[in-house]
Amino acid sequence: MISEAVIERIRKTADRYPERRAALIPALTILQDELGHLSLDTVRSVAEELNVPAPEAFGAASFYSLFRWKPSGRHVIHVCHNLSCSLLGAETLLDHLGKKLGVPEGQATADGRFSFERIECIGRCDGAPSMLVGKDSYDNLTPGKIDEILQQYT
Ligand code: FES
Repeated sequence: MISEAVIERIRKTADRYPERRAALIPALTILQDELGHLSLDTVRSVAEELNVPAPEAFGAASFYSLFRWKPSGRHVIHVCHNLSCSLLGAETLLDHLGKKLGVPEGQATADGRFSFERIECIGRCDGAPSMLVGKDSYDNLTPGKIDEILQQYT
């Protein structure tokens, strides 16, 4: 169920585009920002709002790895696992996060504070291994550095 406030945000965003369908990705981003994740019902509602065929909306929503289909923590940690980051220890960092947070990849912690998942290259290869926490980026990571970084997120 999408609130009227969220629908209104999507309408205002769509009004800035020459064709409403061009606002599909921004609309899905708004949906995720507001609700935490996507669902079949909410993506279908957005498709109807933008006059986009539902299969096209589901195709876009499932193609981009930054869209989530399950509830996440308040702070989502994305660890890059592409070549540079993998060569410099991304798997070790993912293992560390799993042990530290006590949850498997993609699942929120019991307190709802964090969830983590791997992601494709975030364009910070010169600082590999790298991760995002929400929209904040961090480079040259080690397990100890991750522990320090996560302390600032409540
Ligand atoms: S490979 Fe990790 S940021 Fe590019």
